[in-house]
Amino acid sequence: MSRVLAISGSLRAASYHTQLLSCLQPLAPEGMHIALFPGLGDLPHFSEDLETDPPLPVRELWQAIAEADGLLIATPEYNGAIPGVLKNALDWASRPRGTSVLPGHAAMVLSASPGLFGGIRAQAQLREMFALLNVYVVGGPQVAIPAVHTRLNPTAEPEQRLTDPITRAMLTSLLHGLEEAIDHQAGRRLVKPLHHLQSQQAT
Ligand code: FNR
Repeated sequence: MSRVLAISGSLRAASYHTQLLSCLQPLAPEGMHIALFPGLGDLPHFSEDLETDPPLPVRELWQAIAEADGLLIATPEYNGAIPGVLKNALDWASRPRGTSVLPGHAAMVLSASPGLFGGIRAQAQLREMFALLNVYVVGGPQVAIPAVHTRLNPTAEPEQRLTDPITRAMLTSLLHGLEEAIDHQAGRRLVKPLHHLQSQQAT
């Protein structure tokens, strides 16, 4: 049984990325449970001044990442880069320095766009950022979905929502890669006592 935390980098109600994440559970290997993180839009703008006594949404993000065996990030591309809300969340997740809950996690990333290039520049940025954060990202297949609006039926049930068979096959393969990566990373997570979580939960 593996627990995967899925994060959509879009706050848009009809986000393609959130829709894509909602299609993935039926494609996942047996025993993998995917849960969507709901609180990206509740995070305050990152400031080091808030780190010592962070607001509840930040502690919820840390807790969700700490409890997950793997991460699954779907990022839009905004002006050639990852959206600010996702960068903000990853900046929060990377802190406090030395006790971040991120290092050692296995992760899978995907991107999509109504345009021709599938958000590949944002995805490349995300991969580079995760390398710096000691998050192990599954290498391939690299899933950057162009013309995403032609590959989804938003009104269908999750099992039928992803209408493009090639995208389905690639995402299935990537999810199996994530499962292998989670197994591989097991025991490599830097297990640190999460004092900063526990003490703040008590208050
Ligand atoms: C975009 N979009 C976009 N697409 C792309 O392929 N490359 C880009 O650089 C950009 N830049 C960009 C900037 C801003 C501010 C917006 C709002 C949009 C289009 C983007 O891919 C499209 O809106 C997606 O549908 C966003 O993802 P969600 O919200 O559907 O998940």
